[in-house]
Amino acid sequence: MSAAPRLENAVVITGAGRRVGFHLAERMLASGRPVIAHYRTRTEEIERLGAAGAVCLQADLADPDGGLRLADAIRNVAVSLRALIHNASAFEKTAPSTTDALRQMDAFYAVHLRAPFALNRDLAPLLRACPEPRSDILHITDIYADNPNPLFDAYCATKAGLQNLALAFAKGLAPKVKVNVVQPGPILFKEWHSPEARKQVLSETLLGEEGGVEAIGIAVEAILQNPYQTGAVIPVDGGRRLA
Ligand SMILES: NC(=O)c1ccc[n+]([C@@H]2O[C@H](COP(=O)([O-])OP(=O)(O)OC[C@H]3O[C@@H](n4cnc5c(N)ncnc54)[C@H](OP(=O)(O)O)[C@@H]3O)[C@@H](O)[C@H]2O)c1
Repeated sequence: MSAAPRLENAVVITGAGRRVGFHLAERMLASGRPVIAHYRTRTEEIERLGAAGAVCLQADLADPDGGLRLADAIRNVAVSLRALIHNASAFEKTAPSTTDALRQMDAFYAVHLRAPFALNRDLAPLLRACPEPRSDILHITDIYADNPNPLFDAYCATKAGLQNLALAFAKGLAPKVKVNVVQPGPILFKEWHSPEARKQVLSETLLGEEGGVEAIGIAVEAILQNPYQTGAVIPVDGGRRLA
């Protein structure tokens, strides 16, 4: 049996197994783009993406070699990339004990910085090989990257690093590859957010409601469609950053 042909012009989405990442993968498939959906946990959503034609690749990006191994796996299935979207993320309050907090810091650093750094470097040739005039890298950060919440300081600091890395790659990979940042605000609460916390956040959000995954999908599509935008940091937060 001959091997499947390698994908051209594919869109890679990390952390595609649920919520925003899953929505982005579905949206890209619906617009006719080949999708490489990365996941850590094999969820029902990943089964659905696979059934819809996405190539699904597993990697734990907290592993020291996770990013390198994922880049290798992507090179095995694709000859060119239209976009690389760094969506995978770990989000939790900083632990009270410093020993535990350092463990979290290492994991946040690995997922938010080390793996995207490895993927951007090793996949740059595939992004340059994109047959369209421009290709894209997107770093999904957080409005907390600019205005940190001290309860989540380790998370915020590594997301700020991811944002800075985007600007360095925007300079380094221009003019072929555009590199931009999307900063979500309250898009989808976690199941552990209490009713009081949700109420508080929404009272500080000008538009007064959760954004929903569509808001990120629309922002991502707008960036991919815009040939003259790189090094931009775009909040999608209902105005929460102004509170
Ligand atoms: N939702 C919001 O309101 C909000 C607000 C601000 C910023 N953001 C940002 O927007 C993006 C999407 O948000 P979301 O709420 O959809 O995120 P989410 O529900 O926390 O999902 C994150 C994804 O990252 C994956 N992931 C976590 N650790 C990983 C690891 N070590 N290796 C590989 N994959 C790993 C998860 O896989 P598993 O299923 O295996 O855990 C999951 O698929 C994230 O970058 C987030 O920081 C979201």
